[in-house]
Amino acid sequence: MTERLVTGCDLVDVARLSAAIDRRASIVDRVFTQREQADACRGELTLAEPVARQRLAARFAAKEAVRKALGDLRLPFHAVEVRTEATGAPRLWLDGRPSALTCSLSHDGGLAMAVVVGVLHDTP
Ligand SMILES: CC(C)(COP(=O)(O)OP(=O)(O)OC[C@H]1O[C@@H](n2cnc3c(N)ncnc32)[C@H](O)[C@@H]1OP(=O)(O)O)[C@@H](O)C(=O)NCCC(=O)NCCS
Repeated sequence: MTERLVTGCDLVDVARLSAAIDRRASIVDRVFTQREQADACRGELTLAEPVARQRLAARFAAKEAVRKALGDLRLPFHAVEVRTEATGAPRLWLDGRPSALTCSLSHDGGLAMAVVVGVLHDTP
């Protein structure tokens, strides 16, 4: 078995995602799990508020970053879930299980980003 360090990153224009949501609200359920939507609203926000939109954008970036890290560019959006832990830190779940991949999120200045890192175990 060989170990391989993998990384993925992604940057999202918050206004662009937000405009897409305003055009078609069904995007939210298609891309984000109920838990991700609740995490984005923590602090008693609604999904219409700017901070919640920034958080959704960061979670979108995390899903794209996982696709890059795993080399699976068609991974379904709901296969990756970003769960916010009690500390506020994000934790990645993959296909309903905690993932060995770790992620970090940030949003500022109209942009949201995610970085994903992990070690994959390849069997020859
Ligand atoms: C956590 C912290 C580093 C976030 O930095 P920031 O510049 O405010 O915000 P960023 O946009 O860079 O990062 C936000 C992301 O950090 C992540 N984050 C929050 N708490 C975290 C923690 N304990 N560990 C790792 N990541 C964390 C979240 O993913 C968050 O994104 P989300 O809101 O979409 O879930 C910062 O708030 C901090 O240092 N907090 C500790 C002190 C504190 O609570 N201060 C506030 C009261 S004075």
